Amino acid sequence: MTETTERDVFAQAVIDGLSAPHKSLPCRYFYDARGSELFEAITEAPEYYPTRTELGLLQAQAQDIAARSPRGAVLVEFGSGSSRKTEVLLAAMKNLAAYVPIDVSGDALDEAAARLAKRFPNLRVLPVTGDFSAPLDLPRDLADAPRIGFFPGSTIGNFAPDAARELLAGLRAQLAGGSLIIGVDLRKELSVLLPAYNDAAGVTADFNLNLLVRINRELDGTFDLRGFRHEAVWNAPDSRIEMHLVSRRAQEASAAGRTFRFAEGERIHTENSCKYDLDAFARLAGQAGWRVSRVWTDPNDWFSLQQLDAA
Ligand code: SAH
Ligand code: AVI
Repeated sequence: MTETTERDVFAQAVIDGLSAPHKSLPCRYFYDARGSELFEAITEAPEYYPTRTELGLLQAQAQDIAARSPRGAVLVEFGSGSSRKTEVLLAAMKNLAAYVPIDVSGDALDEAAARLAKRFPNLRVLPVTGDFSAPLDLPRDLADAPRIGFFPGSTIGNFAPDAARELLAGLRAQLAGGSLIIGVDLRKELSVLLPAYNDAAGVTADFNLNLLVRINRELDGTFDLRGFRHEAVWNAPDSRIEMHLVSRRAQEASAAGRTFRFAEGERIHTENSCKYDLDAFARLAGQAGWRVSRVWTDPNDWFSLQQLDAA
């Protein structure tokens, strides 16, 4: 039997997504090395409020979070990317047994681990390249240590409610009774939301289009990048920003040995970014076996940092 490679899984996801009547691609494939770099650039765009808002909340609360954390805990981060926000927590959490950043982007992980090793030479950093929904396999000496989860960025918003519930329940199992500190982006006026996903410098557009660049490189794709444009729209019934790639003309493109047809104006749905109100998120977390025990928000109520405890 031949082994299924990551490329095979990516190829199948692209074939499935682009063969469906409503074309879509899974957003986790945004994050190759270039995609992770572009995400970091988005976080510096003036329009992208989530990162700086959450960072402010973390800076204000890190000491308190650290003071309430058990000694000798393992801090497990889901979708750690650059680990920039985590540095604020790590500076406050002096008694950790280890920090375990999990990310599909190996390049982002390597860079973060090298930087953290310099800033925190005594911290044991155990990066895991892979899907954060997979069961966690810790070294034997850490198997019984208390765990604390960190899931910032509102990455939970990139999952539709059913998948988000399933993921949160899975993280609860991975954390074995430990708390989860999670960032959750909130509903707000469209004059703030829409520019955050359509910045004037076009970085979000490049991030979205990079998915086609990746398909061209990794799956022998023939996408003409000038043939597609970035679109971010608000879906009110589902309370989410959606990103799409819109075909500028009728065209064909091949990838993974298949050819796909696009009508003029046809869209590939590439990402959901769900925005919650506090009650709706508490209900969702409750259905996944979590109780919201603390909530911190900024003065505009744009973003929330929350502590979930096993219910
Ligand atoms: N935590 C950082 C990065 C958020 S971007 C912050 O708050 O700024 C989302 C990150 O999650 C990316 O680094 C991406 O590579 C990672 N990611 C997305 N889906 C993932 C999955 N299924 N498993 C592991 N990592 C994932
Ligand atoms: C990682 N994730 C929470 C980001 C978001 O805001 O949904 C990804 C992103 N997409 C476009 N801009 C940033």
